[in-house]
Amino acid sequence: MKVTVLVGTQWGDEGKGKIVDILCENYDIVARYQGGANAGHTIKINDIQYVLHLIPSGILREGPLCVIGNGVVIDPVALLEEIDILEKAGIKVKGRLFISHNAHLIMPYHKLIDSLNERGSKKIGTTGRGIGPCYIDKFARKGIKIVDLLDKKSFEAKLRSNLAEKNDLLKNYYHSSEMDVEEITEQYLRFDELIDPYISDTARLLNESVSSGKSVLLEGAQGALLDVDFGTYPFVTSSSPTSGGACTGSGIPPTRITDVFGIVKAYTTRVGNGPFPTELTGEAGDTLRKWGAEFGATTGRPRRCGWFDAFLVKYSVMINGITNCAITKLDVLGGFDEIQVCTGYKLGGKILKSFPADPRRLEEAEPVYITMKGWKQDISLIRNYDDLPPETKEYLNFLESECGIKIKIISVGPKRDQTILQPD
Ligand code: GDP
Ligand code: IMO
Ligand code: MG
Repeated sequence: MKVTVLVGTQWGDEGKGKIVDILCENYDIVARYQGGANAGHTIKINDIQYVLHLIPSGILREGPLCVIGNGVVIDPVALLEEIDILEKAGIKVKGRLFISHNAHLIMPYHKLIDSLNERGSKKIGTTGRGIGPCYIDKFARKGIKIVDLLDKKSFEAKLRSNLAEKNDLLKNYYHSSEMDVEEITEQYLRFDELIDPYISDTARLLNESVSSGKSVLLEGAQGALLDVDFGTYPFVTSSSPTSGGACTGSGIPPTRITDVFGIVKAYTTRVGNGPFPTELTGEAGDTLRKWGAEFGATTGRPRRCGWFDAFLVKYSVMINGITNCAITKLDVLGGFDEIQVCTGYKLGGKILKSFPADPRRLEEAEPVYITMKGWKQDISLIRNYDDLPPETKEYLNFLESECGIKIKIISVGPKRDQTILQPD
């Protein structure tokens, strides 16, 4: 019985989608536990590329059942669009996808408020998917859940009370147009009919499955440094992508989690604003972006790029309790003569002992680098560890010892077969 939590160790886009697709052959269920359609998980099968936002990446394999847990915030528009794309591509979704009745719904005003908030000077650089405003309502105990769709009258009453407040905000604070209760009620009741076959008590489903010996892969979205508690606050998302969030977001208790698998990109990227100590601006950053095709899978925005930050990953390993790892995009570093790795931060002439909580300190922190020799070789066709150039092995060994990780999967390209598995 395995219940594995898979987490991004950096600022998201580490290649979680590809690795879930590889690992899930050995799992009965793949479940998302937080975030929403802000995620963009890419899987490349032969020459077809799929980008999943809400549905677990396990859907592309025939075997596993897929669950969207209670911790996920669900935009029915995005969900139905994704189901439609998959069904049209011949991928069976009905009967394989189960959505928690406890999950909160993203409403049209959440998306509008998210984009209006981004007009100001204190931009987070969100994906505009309504994530923050929806989680605000959840924690303010005003949110509308999937289960609320069951009763038209109570749904409408909840919506009316929410809209009274939102419309006041929209009109008087944002100077934007107001929203209509009837229109949204009608729209969401239509959604209800369409999503009804997928809704279930997923906490029970997951726990009963684990009790009967089934294995579960919990697919985190975003990454540890975007975590609302442990990330570079306020430049974070509004959920808990770290492994702790997997329990509250799925209903699987901590006593049933068996291991935590981290996804590490061979360098660092970030989309949106916020501190990024190893960021490369100028030509080197542009090169990394070009070689790594670093453009957002959800918004298409160019990703900020920089060297691997071992100090940050070490912190991530600690707060997630990571046991094993996959390293992705190692092929992208093949063109560099030299590669740098950050091993710590200096601030005011002193080496920091722990990862700073204050974004201003992080902004001022000066990375301390070691320089390693590049391998100057295309490794994307290599399938055995032994065939990797000695400099690549040195790079991997250094990251393992510096971050305290064990690398079990080495990804050398976006496709399924561009993967090197390390024996136990
Ligand atoms: P996720 O959000 O963590 O699932 O990652 P994204 O899908 O947003 O971004 C990862 C990108 O890198 C996608 O375009 C993947 O197809 C691609 N990718 C994944 N692994 C590799 C790899 O090992 N090498 C290369 N070159 N691309 C990869
Ligand atoms: P995956 O799962 C990278 C970032 C946004 C922004 C911040 C807050 O594909 O790794 P939000 O819309 O969540 O309120 O935005 O978080 N962000 C991501 N960055 N990958 C993601 O998901 C992200 N989801 C959100 O760019 O900086
Ligand atoms: Mg992504």
